[in-house]
Amino acid sequence: MVKRITNRCDIMLFGALGDLAQRKLFPAFYQLERAGLLADGSRVLALARRDLDTVAVCKQLLESLEQYVKPEEFDRSVAEAFLQRVEYQMLDFHDSDGFGVLNDWRDEPNNELIVYMACPPSMYGIIARNLSSASCCTEKTRVVVEKPIGHDLESSRVINDELGEVYRENQLFRIDHYLGKETVQNLIALRFANNLFASQWDQNHISHVEITVAESVGIEGRWGYFDKAGQIRDMIQNHMLQLLCLIAMDPPSDLSADSIRDEKVKVLKALRTITPDMMESHVVRGQYTAGTSTGNPVPGYLDEEGANKSSETETFVALKVEIDNWRWSGVPFYIRTGKRLPEKLSQIIIHFKPAPHYIFDQDQKHLANNKLIIRLQPDEGMSLKILTKDQGLHKGMRLRQGPLELTFSEAFEAERIPDAYERLLWEIMKGNQYLFVRRDEVEHAWRWVDRVIQNWSDGGHSPKRYAAGTWGPVASIAMITRDGRSWYEDA
Ligand code: BG6
Repeated sequence: MVKRITNRCDIMLFGALGDLAQRKLFPAFYQLERAGLLADGSRVLALARRDLDTVAVCKQLLESLEQYVKPEEFDRSVAEAFLQRVEYQMLDFHDSDGFGVLNDWRDEPNNELIVYMACPPSMYGIIARNLSSASCCTEKTRVVVEKPIGHDLESSRVINDELGEVYRENQLFRIDHYLGKETVQNLIALRFANNLFASQWDQNHISHVEITVAESVGIEGRWGYFDKAGQIRDMIQNHMLQLLCLIAMDPPSDLSADSIRDEKVKVLKALRTITPDMMESHVVRGQYTAGTSTGNPVPGYLDEEGANKSSETETFVALKVEIDNWRWSGVPFYIRTGKRLPEKLSQIIIHFKPAPHYIFDQDQKHLANNKLIIRLQPDEGMSLKILTKDQGLHKGMRLRQGPLELTFSEAFEAERIPDAYERLLWEIMKGNQYLFVRRDEVEHAWRWVDRVIQNWSDGGHSPKRYAAGTWGPVASIAMITRDGRSWYEDA
């Protein structure tokens, strides 16, 4: 049984009229309200530059809640109860004098103060300084920031330094929303609560690992932002490497934030650097051209609204990642992610090695590798492919491969799977940092990714084209086929 939060929180939400706040944060607050998880007296101060008042903003928020909360989960009276907690304040984030009003809003100094910066990272430093000079924060204030933390190692250091001038690391909650996904959290339970897997989780038993995060959508009106980032900065540096860390890390000694994060950092430090001579064999960079998505024709990346026709930004990346440590020596992690792929699908596949001595029909030898399939979305669940004897007298000892299946929505029917932001907000309110990214994680991830980006620019590696609605450039298939393997697409 989940305990109600008893500590009241004052949440200052910078960028409250932006896309993230409307699509994700307010719906997540609504769900917490609906679940009775917001303490009485917890309040939200919505901050943005537009000259509006609380009534107008709450009216707009009610409409966007109706839009973004699933109809079967929308209850107008809950939404209205939540909006009672919301106040709007127009604020120019650059105007240090204006920050004084924030103290007036704080009428209960014992409430926990949470500052959520749902705005471009270039604003983090200025907001932090202005809050500090207006004496708005204490040493207990929790500060939440979103990715991207910079566009390379150097720029991430600048942002982290600016935040570090005002806040200590244990006050900073850097969001990677993948860490809030139910199934991603389940990786920790799966690995460390089941000795069955714990004892098999290394190079003695696993041949290779696949991680796929595919999206069927294109750029969705974000061309300007996306074109500067590309898929490697938008997805690999954060979500994909976090998933890889959770699969590859050693068991932490407990569930505390630092124990988990220490183990993730060890993995990031052990990633083999991709040198120029490894680019052909280890990296595929792609960009989609016109094709189809869910049966409808869609334009190519260069023909999207607002596109610069000569952009060389990638919308797909596949990598063969090697981890130089005792546990993973010789076990490649093939990871791929892209826009305009055939479906929205995030899954991890652990391919186990075959038994050392094979005694069944030789023509079935290819079946003899157990696979653990962890589906992050959609249809969250797990499936273990195992071999059993085929039924029937005449089948002799013929084998067949079948799944041991656990689909969460069927197995645990009564439970609704919360959105990542609900869990993240809930953990922030409890002050638990284990689902948030520490500074050194961000920086080690950038150091590794920067090298690939540098190799692309030094070697003139343009993205290879793939038609929208396919699984990326053929080079991605070639990359894994060269190792005698294939991507597992049997979703
Ligand atoms: C975001 C990226 O962090 O994650 C987007 O900026 C991407 O480009 C999104 O679409 C994917 O998240 P999810 O939860 O839909 O898999």
